[in-house]
Amino acid sequence: MEIRKLDLADLPQAHDLSSEAFGPPPAGSPQPVPPPEPPPGRHSWGAFDGGRLVAKAVALEFTSWFGGAEVPTCGIAGVAVAAEHRGGGLLRQLFTPLLEESVARGEVISTLYPTANGIYRGLGYELISSYDQVEIPTADLARVRPPLTVRTRRATAADVPAMQEVYAAWAAAQNGPLTRTGPRYGRPAEQELADHTGVTLAVDTVDGVEQVVGWGSWVRSDGYGPQGVVEVWTLVGLSADAYRAIWLTMATFASVAGTVRLRTSGADPARLVLPTAAWGHVARHAHPYSLRVSDVAGALTARAVHVPGLAAEVPFAVAGDVFGASDGHYLLTLGDARGLCGRVSEPSGGAAVPTFTPQGIALAFAGAQSCANLRLLDHLTGPDTHDLVLDAALGGRPLHIHDYF
Ligand SMILES: CC(C)(COP(=O)(O)OP(=O)(O)OC[C@H]1O[C@@H](n2cnc3c(N)ncnc32)[C@H](O)[C@@H]1OP(=O)(O)O)[C@@H](O)C(=O)NCCC(=O)NCCS
Repeated sequence: MEIRKLDLADLPQAHDLSSEAFGPPPAGSPQPVPPPEPPPGRHSWGAFDGGRLVAKAVALEFTSWFGGAEVPTCGIAGVAVAAEHRGGGLLRQLFTPLLEESVARGEVISTLYPTANGIYRGLGYELISSYDQVEIPTADLARVRPPLTVRTRRATAADVPAMQEVYAAWAAAQNGPLTRTGPRYGRPAEQELADHTGVTLAVDTVDGVEQVVGWGSWVRSDGYGPQGVVEVWTLVGLSADAYRAIWLTMATFASVAGTVRLRTSGADPARLVLPTAAWGHVARHAHPYSLRVSDVAGALTARAVHVPGLAAEVPFAVAGDVFGASDGHYLLTLGDARGLCGRVSEPSGGAAVPTFTPQGIALAFAGAQSCANLRLLDHLTGPDTHDLVLDAALGGRPLHIHDYF
């Protein structure tokens, strides 16, 4: 079996393998045309059996917000193994060079949307959140309390920088969302808007100057009547009234679209201004989101752990990484400046330290589970002296994701 990076000439085979695994593109879709050069920030790997591509995985260069810091992230997509080669451990063979290369690029964590959680657990990934769709009867939105001064207007290309600023301010306050910056996000402003029927801005006037304080991008589908849908792809606000203003604009569709469908995740603040209890999850559109810490010291340092007034030295270890890369002893130093994490040698005399499984350090890094819950699941063992410090340092922000890949 030959494991190597794919080049443009391999794309037809990669396309066929994707179609085999995920189903062919809808009838009438144009034949995919190989791009003249590899797309930026995309690295495809394949396993070849006598020249035939039998497994593939794609690494995408992203950055995620965690703890208010931008953390370089390797997003994994397009994983498929040819039917007759499944169950043979090809994923591990593919992921070994793929993750090594991603860590060399500085991507200290890796995330993916598994089609089944068990597929990547053995590779150190664990479920931290999910990207969901919820449906709300459009008429229910009319009961949202009107905002005081915030109003809405349609976005134009000139508004895209302000929309990006609002998104960044919102996303920095969460754990998990992509920054939507970097090599995969270089599209012209007009194209950003062209994907949607409309982008509605929530705007306020501060000292006589208009400020964008939220936005919702939406696509209208399924005709008019009870079956009609307004599909909201991104909804971010910097104030309760920003959310209210956008919800009320969506409510105006009540006579022609029975449902507003929102892409969301976690405990979305957008829900907290709704008077209705309706928030129906569409089961077929729940996409679990998993994370692996590929470089433990690098990831915790990149997360810039800092809790004002909290100074501590937390020794810990990671054990059980199938790639061996994460296993070892570490020291997390918290103090006045941003925290630092480095590799250290094993404590003399073999003194016990808190020890994470790879999945445990993933869940802790993401702030997805408390140390107490990690202990329930055997993802954290050893002395619990520092559990509250770790919870304070790594928790405290809700998990949110907003981009499927
Ligand atoms: C999912 C897929 C890539 C797995 O390939 P594979 O060759 O069976 O993978 P491996 O033999 O390397 O096994 C990796 C792990 O996945 C687990 N696994 C495989 N299929 C699984 C499933 N359907 N549900 C849960 N776990 C599964 C195996 O038990 C193994 O776990 P372990 O490491 O704890 O022993 C392959 O079945 C496939 O191409 N499926 C269709 C496309 C798809 O779902 N791709 C994944 C997109 S996220």
